[in-house]
Amino acid sequence: MESLYAKQHTGWLNQYAGMHYGARYLKKRWSKFLPAENFEFIEKLSKMSIDAVDEACTNKRALDLGCNVGGITFNLAAKFDEVVGFDCSEGFIELCEELKKNGKATIYSCEEGELENEMMAEIPDSIDRSKCSFMLGDAHALPSDIGTFGCVVISNVLDRLENPKKVLKTIPDLLADRGICVIASPHCSLEPFTPKENWLGGYLNKDGQTVTASQTIKEILSDKMELIQTEEIPFALQYRIRNFELAISEVQVWKKYP
Ligand SMILES: C[S@@+](CC[C@H](N)C(=O)[O-])C[C@H]1O[C@@H](n2cnc3c(N)ncnc32)[C@H](O)[C@@H]1O
Repeated sequence: MESLYAKQHTGWLNQYAGMHYGARYLKKRWSKFLPAENFEFIEKLSKMSIDAVDEACTNKRALDLGCNVGGITFNLAAKFDEVVGFDCSEGFIELCEELKKNGKATIYSCEEGELENEMMAEIPDSIDRSKCSFMLGDAHALPSDIGTFGCVVISNVLDRLENPKKVLKTIPDLLADRGICVIASPHCSLEPFTPKENWLGGYLNKDGQTVTASQTIKEILSDKMELIQTEEIPFALQYRIRNFELAISEVQVWKKYP
């Protein structure tokens, strides 16, 4: 199954591979203009997730929902016994599988016109890649036997889903008691990813009040979970050699009440 997302943006395999695994190349080339922190999103979000774990939670499985090319999935293996990377795009999952098998893969940055530059994506030897598995599927319809987790990461995915509310409502049942959910999003609601009637925020309600995604996430989760941390983390996605998208994700860390 190939997502609308991947069909419309074939170049995004390269762009996300650069974001997840090309930080050292990008920092070296662009440090004069772009502070290093713009290339540290994957590292920072992974660390924040690991640091937020409640050691009293006995479930040592993690789920990276919308794992893309797997940078966070592999990083989570430093802490968890088992990590599932889940994504609806075959191309992304293929790269994850190659990295799991070989520990490295050639990735490409879009340079000028049709020119590409080769980079090497590498998973550090300290990561036990055998703890990671990758699944192709739709986050709106997770396999019934996927089980529960001590940590669920949903990074920059909500505003790419057809029905983000539906997916958010499944979170408490995916978590073990004291399990955490780390949600990062730049809250860029856009059609055609998400039909307007399903947007988490970015509009005025019928009473003329502002509705934001940040607030809607809180309304959906706060029944069964506690918001334990918020943060903002920037990321730069390289479209072409001299063309970047700069975004700042809001990160909310939630813990399921025991
Ligand atoms: C913007 S990327 C973010 C990837 C990564 N988590 C990160 O933070 O860099 C969104 C990812 O969500 C995946 N995705 C979109 N809709 C999905 C769905 N319905 N089910 C599973 N994955 C989905 C896309 O294929 C893509 O890999």
